[in-house]
Amino acid sequence: MTKKGRIFSGIQPSGRLHIGNYLGAIKQFVPLQETYETVFGIVDLHAMTQSYDTGEMSERIINAAVNYLASGLDPDKAMLMLQSGVAEHSELAWILATVTPLPWIQRVPTFKEKARNQPDNVNMGLFNYPVLMAADILLYKSVAVPVGEDQRPHLELTREIARAFNQRFGEFFPEPEEIIMKGNQSRVMGLDGKKRMSKSIGNCIYLDDDAETIYEKVTRHGVTDPARVRKSDPGNPDICNMFTWHTFFSDKKAQEECADQCRNAEFGCMDCKAVLVRNIVETLEPIQERQKELMDDLDKVRDIIRDGTERARKIAQETMKEVREITGLTYLD
Ligand code: AMP
Ligand code: TRP
Repeated sequence: MTKKGRIFSGIQPSGRLHIGNYLGAIKQFVPLQETYETVFGIVDLHAMTQSYDTGEMSERIINAAVNYLASGLDPDKAMLMLQSGVAEHSELAWILATVTPLPWIQRVPTFKEKARNQPDNVNMGLFNYPVLMAADILLYKSVAVPVGEDQRPHLELTREIARAFNQRFGEFFPEPEEIIMKGNQSRVMGLDGKKRMSKSIGNCIYLDDDAETIYEKVTRHGVTDPARVRKSDPGNPDICNMFTWHTFFSDKKAQEECADQCRNAEFGCMDCKAVLVRNIVETLEPIQERQKELMDDLDKVRDIIRDGTERARKIAQETMKEVREITGLTYLD
C-alpha cells in the first residue's frame, strides 16, 4: 500500500510518561503507523530548555522509548529516533529562525507560561523552542502531526514559519495539519482536575505506576464533584474529573452505571473510584508487561533507537541538501 505521506511527532524526555501523554498522543500514533510513514522523536534538545540532571538524561530517554514501544509503536513500521542524533534538526532550526519575526514567538502562550514557571532560567532555548519544533516537523516534510491540545499554538506557528520560508525562498515545505484526539483525551486533567496533567507539575498517573500506587493516588488525590460532601448527597458526574477518567478507561456499561448511581446517591465516590482504579490497572497491564520485557533487554531498545535515528537522518540529510541549495548555501559544493 502506498502511504499517505509522512508524519512526525515528538515527546520530551523530561520525566516519566503519564496517561495524558498516552491518551492524548501515543495512543493515536499506533493506528497512524499503518497509513503514514511515521517518525517519532524523543526530543532531548527540547528537554534541555528546563534545568535537568545530566546523569538522568539517558534514563529518561530509555523511559520514553520503552513507553513508546510498550504502547504499540512498531519499529518495523515507524522510525523511533533521538533528536540529538540528527544534527540537521538544529541546523534547520537556525535557518527557520531567520525567517521567524520576533513577535511571533513573543506571543506563543507556552513560552509565556514557561517563562513564568522558571523565572530564573528564561534561556534562549526556551525562546527558540517553537522554532526547533517547527524544524523537527518540516525536516521530514511532514503532512500532519499527532499531538495533544496544548500543542495547537505550536502547530499554527509551524505552518506560519513554513509559509514564511516558502515566501522567502520558493514553495518547498508542506503546511502540516494537526491530528488532535476528539474530546477530553486531547487534554487530560491531572488528579486534582484543575490543571492539565503534566510531568512538570507531577499531578500524574505514570504509565509505569503499579496498582497500589494508582489506588493511593486516585483514592487520596482524585478530586470529584466538590459539592458532594456525603455519600447520601446526589453527585454530578458532568463536573467530576474522576468520571471523565471513567470515559477513558471504563466501558460504556460501567460508565452509565457509575453515573446513574452517583446521581441517585447509591454509589459513593470511593465505590466509583474502586471501579475506575480497576479499569486503569487493566488498561495499563499489557503495556506494563511489555515495559518489563523491554527493560530486561535494553540493548534491543538501544538498537531500535539507533536504527530509527539512522533512517531518519537519511531523510533529514536529503531535505537539508535541498534547503542549502534553495537558500544559496552551496559555495563549497
Ligand atoms: P510532553 O510530555 O510535553 O513532551 O508531551 C508529549 C505529547 O503528549 C504531546 O503531544 C502533548 O500534547 C501530549 N500531552 C502532554 N500532556 C497531555 C495531557 N495532559 N493530555 C493530553 N495530551 C497531553
Ligand atoms: N513540544 C512538544 C511537547 O512538549 C514536543 C515536541 C517537540 C513535538 N518537537 C515536536 C511534538 C514535533 C510534535 C512534533 O509536547
